[in-house]
Amino acid sequence: MTDLTSFFNPKSVAIVGASKSPGKIGNVIVKNMINCGYKGKIFPINPKEREIEGLPCYPSLDKAPEPADLVVLSVPAASTLDAVQACGTNGAKNLVVISAGFKETGKEGFERERRLVEICRRYDMRLLGPNCVGFMDTHVPINASFAAGFPLKGEIAFISQSGAMVLSILDWSYQAGLGFSKFVSLGNKADLTEAHFIGDAAEDPYTKVILCYIEDVEDGPHFMEVAKRASRKKPIIILKSGTSQAGAQAASSHTGALAGSDLAYETAFRQCGIIRARSMPELFDLAVAFANQPVPEGEKVAVITNSGGPGIVATDTIELKDLKMARFTRETVEGLRNYLPPESNIYNPVDVLGDAKADRFRFSLEKVLADPGVDCALVLVCPAGVTEPEETARVMIEMAGAYPKKPLFAAFMGGERLSGGSNLLSRAKIPCFTFPEPAITSISGMVSYSRAKDQISDEEPVHYEDVDPKAVKAVFYDVKKDNRLVLLGSEAAEVVSAYGIPSAPTVLAAHPEEAVEQAEKMGYPVVLKVASPKILHKSDLGGVKTGLDNREEVKKGFVEIIESVQRYLPQVVIHGVEVQKMMPQGVELIIGMTRDIQFGPLIAFGLGGIYVNLLKDVSFRLASGLTVKEIEKMITETKAHTLLRGYRGSKPADIAALVEIIGRVAKLTTDFPEINEMDINPVFAYNRGAYALDTKITIS
Ligand code: COA
Repeated sequence: MTDLTSFFNPKSVAIVGASKSPGKIGNVIVKNMINCGYKGKIFPINPKEREIEGLPCYPSLDKAPEPADLVVLSVPAASTLDAVQACGTNGAKNLVVISAGFKETGKEGFERERRLVEICRRYDMRLLGPNCVGFMDTHVPINASFAAGFPLKGEIAFISQSGAMVLSILDWSYQAGLGFSKFVSLGNKADLTEAHFIGDAAEDPYTKVILCYIEDVEDGPHFMEVAKRASRKKPIIILKSGTSQAGAQAASSHTGALAGSDLAYETAFRQCGIIRARSMPELFDLAVAFANQPVPEGEKVAVITNSGGPGIVATDTIELKDLKMARFTRETVEGLRNYLPPESNIYNPVDVLGDAKADRFRFSLEKVLADPGVDCALVLVCPAGVTEPEETARVMIEMAGAYPKKPLFAAFMGGERLSGGSNLLSRAKIPCFTFPEPAITSISGMVSYSRAKDQISDEEPVHYEDVDPKAVKAVFYDVKKDNRLVLLGSEAAEVVSAYGIPSAPTVLAAHPEEAVEQAEKMGYPVVLKVASPKILHKSDLGGVKTGLDNREEVKKGFVEIIESVQRYLPQVVIHGVEVQKMMPQGVELIIGMTRDIQFGPLIAFGLGGIYVNLLKDVSFRLASGLTVKEIEKMITETKAHTLLRGYRGSKPADIAALVEIIGRVAKLTTDFPEINEMDINPVFAYNRGAYALDTKITIS
């Protein structure tokens, strides 16, 4: 893991482009460094000035009293390369380049950024930016940014690809009373990326929650490796905008068509235990919940309300968000019955009625929080004439203290009349909303994290030694020599066999006699399939004959296939006919792969056959870091799993054999980045073993 200790804790900071002129970025940075209470030395660098904001100013880095650990650059883009070179020769360890005018501006900027990184690598300097706001750490403290202020101290690290988002959130956070441990504006991510800062925040003792806004990730597999480790330690919540490039690729395989544009991110986040926020408010609601409340031990929510309607809304939302309404013990129900008026609902949601004062909330809350079947409670308050908002809030604060392991949320459903109560709750760090839905979304995010955390295993990723990459290379060499990108079925069978995936014997025959010869060798019955990389749906054109039992049938089948295909597609090049050993019927499955630009191979598993796209019974995992446990989970997520366990009297299928095929597909497609797309459809699963029957591979 990259150690960013010296980045966040420099002994000295130089600001190149420091300025005396108020309103200039170079002036704001100097003021920010002074005002945040930074304890190290600050060296403003400007050739024209002798003093800036009361600090001695130096004409260049080499004239500063000592080499600066960190240099913040705020000079026009055209001067940055010379300035960065000077940082290198003067022993700087870390750089923040605020300047815009790099890859975001086109070809010239792109080249400038490439050279910037080159200089940083030459002098072993780490770089944040360019084109960023900078960073802040409230616990060091340091403010190496041009933000208008400094965050309140807190336990949330916010890492953002958008500088504007950093500035807006900072400004908003004061009125929301929200504190932060770190703010990092990533800019163009020419060197340091979200993965580096997530890894750092995971180790930071002052950070409890990691919050990110990203538009893309730089290096998918590295991101996953870091995030998986980090989310075992603390929650990572990400708002990801934009869509992945995978969707932009023309998908010619079933797997590609099923994957959709954003699926690689969705899968990566799930595999790493990251919680995905769908909007800015959700991102910060989750941050507040994680920072201020304990993570619930389970999914069972108790609702206490003084009105029926909101109770029903909450119940519906709880079901919708994959949570459960808690079932109270008999003791809890009896207790509620004895105390509450007879018209009250004593089951979940507990309705304490519209005339409830704080005492009914107190009693009910105490009872349900003490119930071992309740993991978390939500209190809904509507403003009737007799409602006591402040007193009810105080009751909640007291109960939160008495039951510190059970998170408590509130929706005070009104405006002015309830504001006293909701302010008290916010100050006591009990999340309070105007409506129940965002409260339940936050609870659901916390529960997903606790489920995901338990499921991320430290098991080693799948690994196979008995593979023959040379044989695969040889097939690809021949295919490319033939000016093709799509492999014939027989070639694809050779590729998967080289990686230990059991495949039904398949050979190419150029004429009927050769087909007969091959069929005799492998034994009847056989299947014949037209061999042409241009034909995707062979059976639709009469290009497949099954159950051929003797030499006459094979000869006749061969001729009929060629005639039929030529009738439908007279222009298409036919390489011959593939002869394949006919396998007994098994459970028909698909195992496939589509490649994502950022994350690499995305593996699919599900019900196979001709109805794949119709049934869409598929689950996905990224090959990067894939473990046996993950593959097993991937299989159980599909309806196909019910069939595999043995459905209506059929014998169970060999799930271990399928796990191995999926693992080997992951290995093959990771070892060969030129495999663009791949479908094995069908894979036949039997009581013992599983076989690839029809494999399609497209290379780039
Ligand atoms: N070493 C030291 N000082 C230098 C220098 C160098 N190599 N080159 C210039 N300077 C001085 C200038 O003389 C000037 O000082 P002055 O105010 O005393 O005249 C100061 O550094 C700043 O240079 P200037 O040319 O005035 O630039 P600027 O302040 O107008 O703009 C940037 C500089 C970096 C702010 C601007 O180029 C930029 O990129 N702005 C966009 C930033 C942004 O949006 N980032 C992304 C956020 S998401």
